Amino acid sequence: MAISVENGVFHLETANTLYQMKADRFGVFIHLWYGAKTGHTMDYLLDYPDVGFSGNIYEAENQRTYSLNTLPLEYAAGGGCDGDFRIPAVSATNADGSSVLALRFQEYRVKKGKYKIDGLPAVYTDEAEAETLEIILRDDISNVEVCLLYGVLPQADIITRSVSVTNKGNEKVVLERVHSLCMDIPYGDWEWVHFHGKHTMERQMERTALVHGIQESSSTRGASSHQQNPTVLLCEKGCTETSGFCIGAALMYSGGFQTQIELDQLDQVRLVMGINPDTFAWMLEPGESFYAPEVVLSCSEHGLAELSHRFHRILRENVCRGKYKLSERPVLINNWEATYFAFDEKKIEKIAKQASQLGIDMMVLDDGWFGKRDSDMSGLGDWAVNRTKLSGGLGGLSEKINQMGMKFGIWFEPEGISEDSELYRKHPEWVIRIPRRNPVRSRYQLVLDLSNDAVIEYLYYTFSKILREYHIEYVKWDMNRSICDWYTAELPPSRQKEMPHRYILGLYALLERLTNEFPNVLFEGCSGGGGRFDAGMLYYCPQIWCSDNTDAHERTFIQYGTSFFYPTSTVGSHVSAVPNHQTGRITSLKTRAAVAMAGSFGYELDLNQLSDKEKEEVSKQVAAYKRYQKLIYNGLYYRLSNPYKDNMAVWAFMSENRNEILIQGVVFRARSNSLRKRVRLMGLDLEGLYQSEQDGCTYTGQALMSGGILLPRIEGDDAAFEIHLERML
Ligand code: GLA
Repeated sequence: MAISVENGVFHLETANTLYQMKADRFGVFIHLWYGAKTGHTMDYLLDYPDVGFSGNIYEAENQRTYSLNTLPLEYAAGGGCDGDFRIPAVSATNADGSSVLALRFQEYRVKKGKYKIDGLPAVYTDEAEAETLEIILRDDISNVEVCLLYGVLPQADIITRSVSVTNKGNEKVVLERVHSLCMDIPYGDWEWVHFHGKHTMERQMERTALVHGIQESSSTRGASSHQQNPTVLLCEKGCTETSGFCIGAALMYSGGFQTQIELDQLDQVRLVMGINPDTFAWMLEPGESFYAPEVVLSCSEHGLAELSHRFHRILRENVCRGKYKLSERPVLINNWEATYFAFDEKKIEKIAKQASQLGIDMMVLDDGWFGKRDSDMSGLGDWAVNRTKLSGGLGGLSEKINQMGMKFGIWFEPEGISEDSELYRKHPEWVIRIPRRNPVRSRYQLVLDLSNDAVIEYLYYTFSKILREYHIEYVKWDMNRSICDWYTAELPPSRQKEMPHRYILGLYALLERLTNEFPNVLFEGCSGGGGRFDAGMLYYCPQIWCSDNTDAHERTFIQYGTSFFYPTSTVGSHVSAVPNHQTGRITSLKTRAAVAMAGSFGYELDLNQLSDKEKEEVSKQVAAYKRYQKLIYNGLYYRLSNPYKDNMAVWAFMSENRNEILIQGVVFRARSNSLRKRVRLMGLDLEGLYQSEQDGCTYTGQALMSGGILLPRIEGDDAAFEIHLERML
């Protein structure tokens, strides 16, 4: 049994972790433990200090030592309510204007299988592989019920959490914050890891000690964003890739989010995560419920590599869906950096022809194929083919590509709209803007109101028609700006703050319909590269264009940060031309391919501009990728260096049976008179004997893990290398 209840203590057990909580004598729901399987009820760690200026609930009858401000709570309605002044997980305004929710335990239910969440992406699994625990908390005065949902996946070492709030009273309640995760950790010296960035430099890892007060990573952009990612790690000080305790949480949500961590006056930690309350409120009429998105949780006693492996597996196997979820993906050529908007049929066919001769599987036609779209200033929204560029239409082009033995893929940006478009002229009311105010433009464009059912219907009709009519096997689903000016004519003034979440519900509903109807199409998510790289989008798109930055050097940092939570198969990664279009840097074709291979591989340049020697190299790279693709997708991913510190980015893929290892990497700056670089491997069988394909040398597993392996002598900056090891004994 993954879920058991003994003496009022709830135990959620996975293969290697334990989660505990209980309702105390006042019905306050207390968090006891998340960590190693201790074989113990961890309530002996609870302490009841008399801390000045910490309120005492009335039921405690003048016991100054009983305070919700000092106890570890499972789901805090804090913010001063009930005497807990730490960051709240939930807050609401009751019909009488008060904002207190005194949540007390009511009942629980254990169910077979993993719960689902209506309208939202969630981890899925066979009924036999998971159990669900529902904990009902209730405020007796407002009659608001909070249901805490726990999905326990024992073999995966994963616990999922979600929350629903139901108004069981007779009057309206306005929810102002419904976080999906709340976790109190009374003891330990913790460091916070988050992934910040910007367009073309997403998911930069930052690890800092906690400071007293609240630290936050969040987005109010209507998207999970380039600037912060909805994932978080808490590591005990000293935690490395292979040792030490760490907890990870990934929010399955693609809209504005908030992760907050508070280090309180007693050095206790509270972590909350969920929809960003700055762009959220939700009115619950009597009888209505609100469902918060899911958080995926795991922890490890053995460092960050093991934690990453658990997230990689759950996201790949239990979040991603569709035909391409576990299968190999076509190696693609995309025309964006090859042509930008300046292309016609002939140019695309020429690129495709060359690509097909080098073993590439799919031609992706990027932005510019529709409407009056010769720059990013117009045409967005008019999804009829531009016959000046493509005289044979999409049908003609896709047929020609297919005749070359290649698949055909296409770029869509359904959510965006140009003011200079037929769609805008016909339906200006479909655009997000506040009445009487001018909207903010970004990349010259506006955004369609996806909280409006008519817009969703129109988008479904338009894009399903294209996918039905033509033989399209891949869609790049882009979204090229952040959203502001939140307002929808669909809602009364009192409900306007519901709109950002309703937008995401609309987006998910549309994606659900299209991905169900076209299960053979590979959907790749994109938002100016990795501006919506999150577990929510992975439910619909098993790969996401990782960044608009294709510079191999900077990509190693982006892919390093991405790798803490997201599996390699989800990381869209291309070889582009040099000098690189984002940085002007020149790196070798070998380096560009080595970096792009740590993902869903492709090319994004005009192959006709390459020399014969380079073309030959490309065809060898494509063959090498196909040879290793299973290992790259299914293997355990190890970060063997920290690019911020080590003057190199080195990573490895190891088959689960530990018989095969592919080490790849880039040494950044060449140094004169220096030793060869060395990396220590991880996760090998100590007794095993491994041989390098490159130089024939053999090593014991123990030698490779303790002594390490020397990298080839490297000349020049940003030089890539590859070592392929196979187990002999
Ligand atoms: C975004 C994408 C790019 C490309 C352009 C086209 O920036 O991330 O890959 O598709 O849009 O406009």
